[in-house]
Amino acid sequence: MNENSPIILDGKKLAGEIRERVKQDVTNLNKIGIDVGLALLLAGDNQSSVKYFMATLKASEHVGINVFEYKLPSSASQNEILNVIRDVNADERISGLLVLFPLPGRINARGVVNSILPEKDVDGLGSVSVGRLAAEESMFQIFSMDASVPLEGRPYVHHRSGFIPCMPSSFLPCTPYGVIMLLENYGVEFGGKNVVVIGKSLAVGKPLAMMFLAKEATVSICHKSTQNLEAYLRNADIVCSATGVPGLIKGNMIKEGAIVVDIGINVRADGSIVGDVDFATVSEKASMITPVPGGVGPVTIAILLQNTVRSAQSNVILNHPLTIP
Ligand SMILES: NC(=O)c1ccc[n+]([C@@H]2O[C@H](COP(=O)([O-])OP(=O)(O)OC[C@H]3O[C@@H](n4cnc5c(N)ncnc54)[C@H](OP(=O)(O)O)[C@@H]3O)[C@@H](O)[C@H]2O)c1
Repeated sequence: MNENSPIILDGKKLAGEIRERVKQDVTNLNKIGIDVGLALLLAGDNQSSVKYFMATLKASEHVGINVFEYKLPSSASQNEILNVIRDVNADERISGLLVLFPLPGRINARGVVNSILPEKDVDGLGSVSVGRLAAEESMFQIFSMDASVPLEGRPYVHHRSGFIPCMPSSFLPCTPYGVIMLLENYGVEFGGKNVVVIGKSLAVGKPLAMMFLAKEATVSICHKSTQNLEAYLRNADIVCSATGVPGLIKGNMIKEGAIVVDIGINVRADGSIVGDVDFATVSEKASMITPVPGGVGPVTIAILLQNTVRSAQSNVILNHPLTIP
């Protein structure tokens, strides 16, 4: 490694640390008779969704979270899907529900997501979760992880009062929250920084931009209709790309020392995975960069597990406080 080599933001390592804490939290709940459950809903057989389903299943089992599998055919109707969600909402064994996207074309995806109870919306995509994030009223803004404390010992506390969370939860979308955690884990501060987020989907780009804004960054959101992307990138201290366009970001487009987070996952013809960023040229100028694979991807699933165990904890504190010894 030469002295100009960027710091590689290691998502696998952070994901492992998060999973270990989740495992401990699950064990603690098990000791008071509470199992933690995550429902996975897959309609159809989209190959990326099937892969994500399997990866989530394996990661959940590793930390002791029980998985409830709901697999429906691509011919499933909206009503059938809503029936599953109604059952999951009422099931005390299940703390969270992940719906795998894309859903079959005739299904109203927003209708499906919005039928999940906010306290079980561990993917954070329902309108209540999105609204609380925008209003800076989600657990993300109100409760903070104290970054000065080593990760394994960090209390999950209210940043002013020191209280633990005890309000009906809403959760942050896993991928953008994972980006923030990964950067903070490497000591990156956001206040006053110029951040460019490329992509404005509800699952990634938009909530990520809101999270940076909540952390006092100056944020630009770029998308397909953006005129002159390079003009935005030239000025960016932090670049986050979530487009699904391989090689979109090249070294000559970013400023010296920029921090570059590659969220894109693109499967090439030979089965290998690349991001949106041309790693070879960008790493010559960046001060920090995420690899693909091994960057944001592993953190996403770890955050999903973390949200699920937080949901179980909140349910105990709010609804069954007498079960706490
Ligand atoms: N690492 C992870 O854990 C993780 C999780 C989720 C997604 N992903 C990956 O992240 C990428 C984005 O996912 P998504 O769900 O947000 O996808 P999406 O819904 O298709 O959104 C893509 C966004 O990129 C923008 N875009 C596309 N081409 C562009 C271009 N040439 N220049 C500027 N902007 C462009 C689109 O702009 P318009 O809105 O104008 O069309 C859109 O806002 C995908 O590769 C996906 O696989 C990774």
